[in-house]
Amino acid sequence: MSNLIVLGAQWGDEGKGKIVDLLSEKFDAVARYQGGHNAGHTVLIGEQKFVLKLIPSGVLRRGIQAVIGNGVVIDPAALLEEISALEALGVNVRSQLRISNRAHVIFPFHRTIEKISEGRVDRKIGTTSRGIGPSYEDKIARRGIRIADLVDVDFPRLYRALAEDKQLIADTFKISEKIDFEEILEQYTEFADQIRPMVCDTAHLLNSMIREGKSILFEGAQGTMLDIDFGTYPFVTSSSAAAGGACTGTGVAPTKIDGILGVSKAYITRVGEGPFPSEDLTELGEKIRREGNEYGSVTGRPRRCGWFDVPLLRYTAEVNGFDSLIITKLDVLDDLEEVPVCVAYEVDGKVMTQMPASTRRMEAIKPIFERVAGWKESTRVSGRWSDLPEKAKQYLKFLEEKTGVEIGSVSNGPGRDETLIVPGSRLEKLLG
Ligand code: IMP
Repeated sequence: MSNLIVLGAQWGDEGKGKIVDLLSEKFDAVARYQGGHNAGHTVLIGEQKFVLKLIPSGVLRRGIQAVIGNGVVIDPAALLEEISALEALGVNVRSQLRISNRAHVIFPFHRTIEKISEGRVDRKIGTTSRGIGPSYEDKIARRGIRIADLVDVDFPRLYRALAEDKQLIADTFKISEKIDFEEILEQYTEFADQIRPMVCDTAHLLNSMIREGKSILFEGAQGTMLDIDFGTYPFVTSSSAAAGGACTGTGVAPTKIDGILGVSKAYITRVGEGPFPSEDLTELGEKIRREGNEYGSVTGRPRRCGWFDVPLLRYTAEVNGFDSLIITKLDVLDDLEEVPVCVAYEVDGKVMTQMPASTRRMEAIKPIFERVAGWKESTRVSGRWSDLPEKAKQYLKFLEEKTGVEIGSVSNGPGRDETLIVPGSRLEKLLG
């Protein structure tokens, strides 16, 4: 078995949680490499629904090592809450979860700072308000606090230095919300005691496992178009969601990665502000939102809906080097007469198939659509690729030809067993 990265090929919410949960039985460890509790993975097992935010969904399988890597930012309160919720459902989290001592910590004042920048209409990103961006800001500015420091006796000294900095910001910007720095110190000292037994050098842990011949699944959060470098900047998240982030966010070298799988919906959604070339603002877009239940699993916000975007997918396939694509939520399109697919962009009067970088040009994109015949039949067939309606297969073939990436698997319903693997695909081979 190999070491694989699974990540979102669009703007997040592609259904990675279910895919990772499904694949994880074939792996010894599942590792998260970036983001924080801004992510939301919903996994349906039988009748039971699990929403995971920080903890890799691999934890739902007994015996699998779940790892939160150094590239993640951790709000200890959110982490402990998630652990308790999973324990109440019978998941043995504490024995399976290991947290990187090099991951950075989110404090309540990060949320306060985010609220202020999001309150500026001209700068609003539409974030999840979890303090993610301001915590990464501290990391890059080299003043952040890492988990290793949180669980160390030196924590109060380091914390007070950071608090002094934040007090200065609060005074300068006349922030009216009261921040009780000493109360936070007390709370976080308690959190540290609870978290300490799960903290270790996860880079060493993962590399030791690889040396022993064990296999790791790297789980991306958000999606490539929200990546800090390759996404629709500045309407992005603050971490490296693309495949490269799996190495910097866990300490496992690129030479140890055997394959990269992209997850994409059969259409596309986005939450928050920012350009969205193939967005459908008509009644049809509403219908997709209703039938696909397109509401954020963390914030509950309605997701913006649109059509599969070929130039976008070609771009994310290029920067990630996808070996294979997994298409999710195909069943949501089951009763459409025809399915629009964005095949090219028109920008400033010119047809293009590449992704522009400038915000103005991104916003100026006029999508060029082709319409593919719908199948008007249920794709929720029971476990065999050959049972899929012929016209649905033709739709997938169309996407495959246009994007140049193999479609190796299709998810055709929310259940663990509603996923088809394409026989003879590279994906099938990678999974062994
Ligand atoms: P932040 O990650 O909270 O800073 O939010 C930045 C942008 O990323 C916003 O547009 C959010 O809506 C989006 N975002 C963050 N996490 C997710 C996710 O898990 N799924 C989809 N969008 C997300």
